[in-house]
Amino acid sequence: MSSKSKVNQIIEGNCVEVMKDFESDFIDLTVTSPPYDDLRNYKGFVFPFQQIAQELCRITKPGGVVVWIVNDATIQGSETGTSFTQALYFKEIGFNLHDTMIFRKRNPIPQIYRKRYNNEFEFMFVFSKGVVKTHNPIMVDCVHAGLELNGTTYKNFSKNIQTREKLAKPVKDKKIKGNIWEYVVGKKQEDQEAKGHPAPFPCELARDHINSWTNKGDIVFDPMCGSGTTCRVAAESNRKYIGIDISHEYVEIAKKRIKNNEMQLRMILEEEKAAYKKNRLKKTRVKSKA
Ligand SMILES: C[S@@+](CC[C@H](N)C(=O)[O-])C[C@H]1O[C@@H](n2cnc3c(N)ncnc32)[C@H](O)[C@@H]1O
Repeated sequence: MSSKSKVNQIIEGNCVEVMKDFESDFIDLTVTSPPYDDLRNYKGFVFPFQQIAQELCRITKPGGVVVWIVNDATIQGSETGTSFTQALYFKEIGFNLHDTMIFRKRNPIPQIYRKRYNNEFEFMFVFSKGVVKTHNPIMVDCVHAGLELNGTTYKNFSKNIQTREKLAKPVKDKKIKGNIWEYVVGKKQEDQEAKGHPAPFPCELARDHINSWTNKGDIVFDPMCGSGTTCRVAAESNRKYIGIDISHEYVEIAKKRIKNNEMQLRMILEEEKAAYKKNRLKKTRVKSKA
């Protein structure tokens, strides 16, 4: 099977094996969350991390991005640090560690152990194959919009320079969003569709990354797609998608989810078309009466 024939498919299998059939420099963006240590019990669990990372490096286009969403287990009082080990391995094999972002949960699972603060975030490591080719930044309001400040501290991270200057006068209305992103987990209707999988991430999180790092028509990939969140959002955002999961049960959930969503989108489009036609007809009648 050629790489192209895998586009817009959810494939059942071990991602390492399936990815071997992909051509090199093929994928624009990967958004995935691998199994975290032994935190959850997935069906048919096999996780050869280093091979997966190497294949991702090979199949990602130059300038393409991999978003790797992870957390660590705590074993005998100590966090494993697996997420850091994995991030450093991605660097070792040639990726840039473009950004270490935080996925903050607004409704974290309450913790029983009392001698630590409640865990409420996961890492979103953003790796790039060379310089990032697409960035459509999410913009947010500036707190000091419109103010004439005497001086502001600016950081240029790529040159490691920090200066205090009067650059923005007055301060602009919008700025690029920070790298801590907050979401409510599992409550929205679109996230409820993933019931049956133990650890889906929010559609909104996938949407924000897909819009940030790709353009329409690009290929979005999730090698461990679970309930298919990344692929579902990619499809609705006019991107192509490929998803893989080792579990037959999760593959079925993902396929059903994407199909239902496509049907819903088609229905909405039909309704919009019908409403537009009705409106035009009304206007023509009013005109001809006049
Ligand atoms: C954290 S879950 C992904 C959840 C997904 N992001 C979602 O929103 O539903 C990790 C998934 O990796 C799958 N998995 C584990 N090892 C795999 C492998 N070698 N190849 C493909 N999938 C694998 C598991 O079946 C599980 O569904």
